[in-house]
Order: sequence, then C-alpha cells, then structure tokens
Amino acid sequence: MPLDRMRCLTNPGLMHDFDTRLDARPERPGLYRIGDRVYWIFRCRISRFEKCSPAFRSTESWHRLRYKMPPNSSRKNRMTAPKFRRFKLDGRKIVMLTAYDWISARLLEEAGIDAVLVGDSLANVVQGKGTTLPVTLEEMIYHAEMVVRAVSRAMVVVDLPFPYCQSGKKRAVSAAARILKETQADAVKLEGGRNRAATIRAVVEAGIPVLGHCGLMPQNVREYGGFSVQRDREQLLGDATAIEAAGAFGVVLECIPAELARETSKKLAIPTIGIGAGADCDGQILVMHDMLGFRDEDDIPKHNKRYADLGATVKDAVARYAEEVRSGSFPTVEQSF
Ligand code: KIV
Repeated sequence: MPLDRMRCLTNPGLMHDFDTRLDARPERPGLYRIGDRVYWIFRCRISRFEKCSPAFRSTESWHRLRYKMPPNSSRKNRMTAPKFRRFKLDGRKIVMLTAYDWISARLLEEAGIDAVLVGDSLANVVQGKGTTLPVTLEEMIYHAEMVVRAVSRAMVVVDLPFPYCQSGKKRAVSAAARILKETQADAVKLEGGRNRAATIRAVVEAGIPVLGHCGLMPQNVREYGGFSVQRDREQLLGDATAIEAAGAFGVVLECIPAELARETSKKLAIPTIGIGAGADCDGQILVMHDMLGFRDEDDIPKHNKRYADLGATVKDAVARYAEEVRSGSFPTVEQSF
C-alpha cells in the first residue's frame, strides 16, 4: 500500500500518514506538504486535493498560511508612511501609479514602483464615467482589496471617494477605517486643503495615514466648472501647509504651475507627489491606463506621457484573433487536446 507523509503547514502540529489511493481525511483544511509538493486541501477530503499553483504560492495569502502570519505581516520591506518621508530626506524620488485590479497591481509591483494609488479615477478609466463623483465607497473597497492582495512591497493608498472628505470628520474617519479594515491598505488619500485640515487631523488621529491632495481637486469639478490648472499661489501654499500641519505624510499636487510646485516642495518637509506639477516635486504619479495608452489621446490630459500604446496592441491582437477564428486557422493541433 503506497504510504506517504502529509505535513500540515498551516498547523505544524498536524501530521498524517495516508494511503495515496484512499480517501483519507485530514483533521482540518489547510496547506499540506506531501513529498516535495504543496497542496491546498479543503473540505477535509484527500480526494479533493487541489494542487497548489505557483501563482497561489506567490500570493500574500499563501505566505500568511505557510508562516502563520497575520494579514500583511509578510509584506517585508514594504513602503510605509515614515519611509515615504525618509525618501524626501534622502533626496530619492517617489514613483507612484494608479491601479484598480490584481493583475495590474502585480505588474506594477514587479516593475518596482514605490506606491500604488487606488484612485477614484477608477470612475473614469474603469467605469467609463465623466467625473470621479459617482464612484462609491463599496466600489473603492472592492478594487482596493484586489490591489492589496497583489502587492507585498509597494504601499497601497486608497482614495476616499466623494463625498466622504466633504461630510465632516466622523464620516471621513469611519469611511477611512472601513477602507483599512476591509482591504488591509496602508493609507487613504483625501482631497482638500485648509477647509479639510480638521478632517485630515481626525483621520490621522484615528491612526490612519493620510496622503493629502490639493491644487486641482477633481471632486470639486462642479465648483470649477471644468478641469483647469490652479494658479492661485496663496491658496495653494496655504492649503499645502495646512495639510502638512494636520499630519499628512505627503501631498499630491495636481495641475499647478511647475514654479509653484517647486516652491511648495521646498517649503514642505513632507514629500510632494506631482501630476501636472513639473519636475521638482519629490515624486510623480500618473494614471496607469493613460501612461500605458489605453485611452485615445483626445481623452487624456496634457500632463500625461504615453510610455506604451497598449490600446493599439490590444485592438491589433483581438483583430488577428477574430480573423483566425473566422478563417478557421485557430485553434490548430497545438492548442488542441
Ligand atoms: O484618482 C486619481 O487617480 C488621483 C490621481 C490623479 C492623483 O487622484
């Protein structure tokens, strides 16, 4: 009878000898090593073995199970709010991009970025809406949870959607707490300057790191009457310093003149992250879909730079696939069983 030893990795005290041909039942579901293979066993039936895929083995959940760690503690060397500040002291630029799903976040992390923003721009580039106003807290949480699972080193910041920044400290703290609790993200981003300083302070005092956001604040688009460059020096400097004084660990400066961004970055001890704010900010952020060229050039702002043309690549690949299906040249024997 072929006997093998089955060691439970999630509960190292558990060990079974089992007959590989029998429907043996480990005491509990979990991660088990049998020989040199690792299996995720559920419903306590060996007949339901699922081979643990390499993709699952590289996830945070696997590490958590394997080493019995609480969520996120396997995220060694991850970017944190204090490290963010240290980057500025060390003169190291901070690289940020947005992401809204597991596979994109994973690619960004593997490419070595420092922080991922689950931006409310998901309303624009994922949901196809004209402004960021419609995206809900539940939708932000849904997307942020996927992003957090994909990364181990990059910091994950999640936008507090409209109107949670605007409806007082209590609602902002409770929304920010839900984001951290339900997604395991590292921080929230909150739009607003002097007028939101008390809210930022309340969220920070609740133990939730805050990235501020001033200059062009897309949640105020109705007030501006459109998306325009913000040039009021007194307003911008007042907002940025109020955000710093309220305890934010950094601030996004969106669509302001480069000279003003330089002055603000010099004045603040916390890092500034620019988008349409010139080269002298302490870091930069872009919307991933725009820098990868998913949207038509006409739909994206001047401050974006296209590093790829994935829109054209996708259209070309899909057109070739369609042509091959229609002509009968896909699939071939190579793709058949
Ligand atoms: O929602 C977003 O993507 C943002 C960035 C543009 C900074 O706020």
